[in-house]
Amino acid sequence: MPLLDISDKAVFHRQNDIGTGVYLIKGQIYIPGDKAIYSKAHERKEVRLQLHRKVCMAFRRGWAEKLVPALGLKSSDIVAQIGSSFGWTAEEVDKLVPDITVACVDTSSWVASAKGETETAEIEAILADVGILPVMSRYGEVLAQLTDGGTRARRTIENEDVATGKGRANLKTKYGNFTWAITDNVLPWLTDAEAVDLDAAMHKLAPNVAHQVSPYDHRYDDKPEPFQVLNWKHLDVTGTGVKQELLDQSWYTVSNWKSLLNADSVLVGV
Ligand SMILES: C[S@@+](CC[C@H](N)C(=O)[O-])C[C@H]1O[C@@H](n2cnc3c(N)ncnc32)[C@H](O)[C@@H]1O
Repeated sequence: MPLLDISDKAVFHRQNDIGTGVYLIKGQIYIPGDKAIYSKAHERKEVRLQLHRKVCMAFRRGWAEKLVPALGLKSSDIVAQIGSSFGWTAEEVDKLVPDITVACVDTSSWVASAKGETETAEIEAILADVGILPVMSRYGEVLAQLTDGGTRARRTIENEDVATGKGRANLKTKYGNFTWAITDNVLPWLTDAEAVDLDAAMHKLAPNVAHQVSPYDHRYDDKPEPFQVLNWKHLDVTGTGVKQELLDQSWYTVSNWKSLLNADSVLVGV
């Protein structure tokens, strides 16, 4: 069982708290680029989104910009991206490496049920909480700033489990021989034992395996958890360990991913 419930939409959204720069200030809508409205902190309320496509895409662009040069990805590669959620990193990889094949794979039942939905109703509820209402003249402009009105996923998301022979066979039948299997910031959601199993299964899918990971950061040393209870580790051996509550968790055995996983697996920080 992953540390987080991957069937729960709220779990996915909780991982993200993203400022949009759109505010309601003293009853007036402010959109980035507008003339400044001077206000005290208590007079303005920002629209904050979560795992929503338009605001997250800038982060996925950053992930892709690190991943592509780190692995030397090229047009002829066939990549299985494990834990893609809605495939946003794959969209950005595509832009950087035209004609590359990236299969997006995610086993979450929430991702499977929500991938074809739009985010409009969710974002409208967030706007209403801030006090931005459909009767306001700039409502359409605000909505367009936050969503293009399309579905969450624009890529095919394969609900296949690479831990099983059947899942791997189904993927190979559809995409051919993979050159890379890459997790898309999945490891922090897994116990050490699950991460080892997933890494081993990925080596049965492709000759090259990599993991994109948000690593532990020493700026979090003074906090009980950097974010919430996740499997935080350094990418590589640092000699300084990880200072956090995770040291007490039974599923946590080492402080860096490199020494836990197959020696051939490549780690890329995001
Ligand atoms: C932190 S989220 C990844 C975020 C995602 N890459 C994005 O860009 O939004 C971790 C993802 O891994 C998926 N996951 C966890 N275990 C998995 C597994 N064994 N196979 C495929 N996906 C898995 C979860 O469903 C979840 O979508």
